[in-house]
Amino acid sequence: MHRKLAILTVLPTALWIVFAQTPSPTPEATAQFGKSVAPILQKSCTPCHNEQMLQAGFNAAAFLSAATMHTQREAWEKILQKIKSGEMPPPGLPRPTPPQVEALAKVLEGEWERIDRNVKPDPGRVTARRLNRAEYSNTVRDLLGVDFRADRDFPTDDSGYGFDNIGDVLTISPVLMEKYLIAAERIAARAIGADPLPKKELEFEYHTKDKTIRRLGPDAVECTHRVDWEAEYLIRIGLPGEREADAKAVTMGFWMDGKLLHTMQVETKPSGLVYFNPYSEEQFRLVLPEGEHTFRAGFIDDDYPKKLQGKDAFSDKKNKFLNMIKFIGPYPAKVERASRKKILICDPASGNACIEKILSTLAHRAYRRPVTRQEVASLVRFVDAAKAEKLLSSTLGS
Ligand code: HEC
Repeated sequence: MHRKLAILTVLPTALWIVFAQTPSPTPEATAQFGKSVAPILQKSCTPCHNEQMLQAGFNAAAFLSAATMHTQREAWEKILQKIKSGEMPPPGLPRPTPPQVEALAKVLEGEWERIDRNVKPDPGRVTARRLNRAEYSNTVRDLLGVDFRADRDFPTDDSGYGFDNIGDVLTISPVLMEKYLIAAERIAARAIGADPLPKKELEFEYHTKDKTIRRLGPDAVECTHRVDWEAEYLIRIGLPGEREADAKAVTMGFWMDGKLLHTMQVETKPSGLVYFNPYSEEQFRLVLPEGEHTFRAGFIDDDYPKKLQGKDAFSDKKNKFLNMIKFIGPYPAKVERASRKKILICDPASGNACIEKILSTLAHRAYRRPVTRQEVASLVRFVDAAKAEKLLSSTLGS
């Protein structure tokens, strides 16, 4: 069905190209053809390549009109190449002089160049196709600010010729359609923050002891963590060890994807409490955006480890360093979700004018072009239907 449809749309386009694009030579080129091309072909080639004597199946007599420069361009290119290379006429026979060959080539090549220059580039038409998983995830992220992992939820895309973005192979199975519908609901809820947070907080710990954290040196650690909900989190940093009694406090920074989000002072001298293994923890709360991020905790401008020898940097009797990052949450954030603000640009409860504004703005971004009134009207119908069925959540204020 799909394949047939594609052929039905491509065929007329292809035919159109063939008929519409056969050009004719200019009167000037026709005259030059008559002067510098046809006589040479007549004299040097037709003796062996004519209707009676069809050497290699080639009839040079069929190429004596200027129009053939375009109607038979491919054959002409071959002829020109035989003449230019001196391959034809065969050795030992009288051949055109070099200036004659040059003049002949100039007429043909000049005419082809003129045509090529004026061809309007026609890249063809892109047939509508579904997005593959990577494209779907990226589009949802860019359009709605929701980090949806299509690779986890959707079946693997089929591939053709090693590519997974060929329209013909990207079919939509009933299973995928179902997944689309479920995903759409979840993504929409996420986008406007109507998606409830888990009732019980979750804990994710990254630690040097199980190698879930990367050590970037004596005073920094890094981990990759997936934030599933844009919300507030309690972040706890593990700091084993202690320095000398008069060691200065250091500034500890916390970065996400290279951006510094938080700093705080951390004591490094012995706490006075008696520990077998000196250890302390620091914690702070931050609102983190959804998605996979690289988090780093480390001391800023800390030159203490430079004074230490080799492995003393990780001796808890000689130094204070970092060994753990823990995320606890999510907790409801007091700030409004960025994506919600971007979508609900006015208060939908204020009436239809606002609903139309929200829909046309979103559709403009989704379709990547201005939308027509009819298109917006058909989207408004969905909102009306949802209202009628009381499906619109209270978060929309309707
Ligand atoms: C003496 C006879 C003779 C003359 C004159 C001659 N040809 Fe040929 N041509 C042949 C023969 C024989 C072949 C086939 C053998 C070969 O490919 O070498 C051939 C092959 C060709 C082919 C290859 C066809 C193909 O499908 O591969 C082209 C093109 C061609 N000639 C063009 C020309 C042109 C252009 C001229 C004039 C400039 C010319 N020939 C003059 C004898 C001739």
